[in-house]
Amino acid sequence: MPAPAYLSQHQHRFLEELIDWLRIPSVSADPKFHDDVLRAADYLKVKLEEAGATSVEICPTAGNPIVYGEYVAGPGRPTVLVYGHYDVQPADPYELWTSPPFEPVIKDEKIYARGACDDKGQVYMHVKALEMMLRDGGAGVPCNIKFMFEGEEEIGSNNLEIFVRANKEKLHADVILISDTGILANDVPSIEVGLRGLSYHEVTVTGPNRDLHSGLYGGAVQNPINALCAMIASLHDENGHITIPGFYDNVDELSADERAEMAKAPFSEEEFKKSIGLPDSYGEKGYSSMERTSIRPTLDVNGIWGGYIGEGAKTVIASQAHAKISMRLVPHQTSAEITALFQQHFSSIAPAGVTVEVRPHHGGEPVVTPTNSVAYKAAADAMQTTFGKRPVPTRGGGSIPIVAMFKTELGLDSVLLGFGLDSDAIHSPNEHFGVFNFLKGIETIPEFYREYAAAS
Ligand code: BES
Ligand code: MN
Ligand code: MN
Repeated sequence: MPAPAYLSQHQHRFLEELIDWLRIPSVSADPKFHDDVLRAADYLKVKLEEAGATSVEICPTAGNPIVYGEYVAGPGRPTVLVYGHYDVQPADPYELWTSPPFEPVIKDEKIYARGACDDKGQVYMHVKALEMMLRDGGAGVPCNIKFMFEGEEEIGSNNLEIFVRANKEKLHADVILISDTGILANDVPSIEVGLRGLSYHEVTVTGPNRDLHSGLYGGAVQNPINALCAMIASLHDENGHITIPGFYDNVDELSADERAEMAKAPFSEEEFKKSIGLPDSYGEKGYSSMERTSIRPTLDVNGIWGGYIGEGAKTVIASQAHAKISMRLVPHQTSAEITALFQQHFSSIAPAGVTVEVRPHHGGEPVVTPTNSVAYKAAADAMQTTFGKRPVPTRGGGSIPIVAMFKTELGLDSVLLGFGLDSDAIHSPNEHFGVFNFLKGIETIPEFYREYAAAS
């Protein structure tokens, strides 16, 4: 289908507006960006109003505000709750960016900036889709829409949880629509139908009561860094299995048929390795890379520190060693269960001579979304129209913890109508979002509303 005329005529301005928004460093993890976070929320409020949303408000929370707005199509129309986040990950390390993260540029038909894909670029598709539907010659909006964009997704969505629990009436809807995931390739449209959960911990191993001279004491004391490394190494066996007792007890094992169905999705092992510069892939024995990053749980060290890391050599045995360790969870693991198992196990494997402290951070539950719902079908039909190809369902590897909560608190399923690519480098230096993807999103969203209203 050719792109609508309005989109072709106004795409330049849409991109300019997105670029202005991306200039605001709405980093939620670092308090020094707090004013910028508020400015990014204000910018979004203004743009939602300009696009035609009503009752647009900045809802304060104990943390960063939620931007809320509506479009009322009328009674009897289905209601879609659109969720996304305007906060972004820290841009560090800055020196690895080829252009500064908050000075967006378009290079090779891609917008380079922190948040370009995750998630400001994808949120902005919804704002511009609304504008396009409502302008002269637009098709109008056949659904009631409630927009809810938060500023704390990248730090765990704690205040959104409170907001959702306190505003169940206000958020009453038929389905949730989220653009914060990806497709397999620009010529292989897909819809994520699963997200992994998360259990995240900071561990501290403590040995002697002070840093020691490694000559005077070395050999006669347990070195906390050596101990931490050995403990971490023991968390996987030679087959890439996680060794925590009970870890796999509740893992939903897919049937051979389901795995065969999954394997039909186009995925090139060679491309996968090449794209990240690796000679070999790695992972749990008996599973493909695609399965390892979707239907299987994982355990990874996200950071490790301790001892002397400055210039030159210092012969020291540090008093403490630290690591951040996270586990990605799949149905039907729960973050509470896995957190308890990890705490118990990690403490139990401490060798003599050190003590271990495990501090859990925020977690999140895994989800699988239905593929037989009216909303999923509407999304698939919409992509079929705009990509000219039927999208394939995929299970995603990332986490959006609020999605499980939408189901438990609001009783609502989500449709993950995302347009990013794995190669967009989200959370990494040089994050980018294809102009093609941004425009395809704006084109596809109105088709979703059309299909969903027609089928409801
Ligand atoms: N949008 C991502 C999650 C994502 C990306 C899911 C691509 C599927 C495909 C989200 O912003 C994110 O980064 N989530 C975090 C978890 C959060 C609690 C910090 C994650 O997955 O690490
Ligand atoms: Mn995101
Ligand atoms: Mn993210």
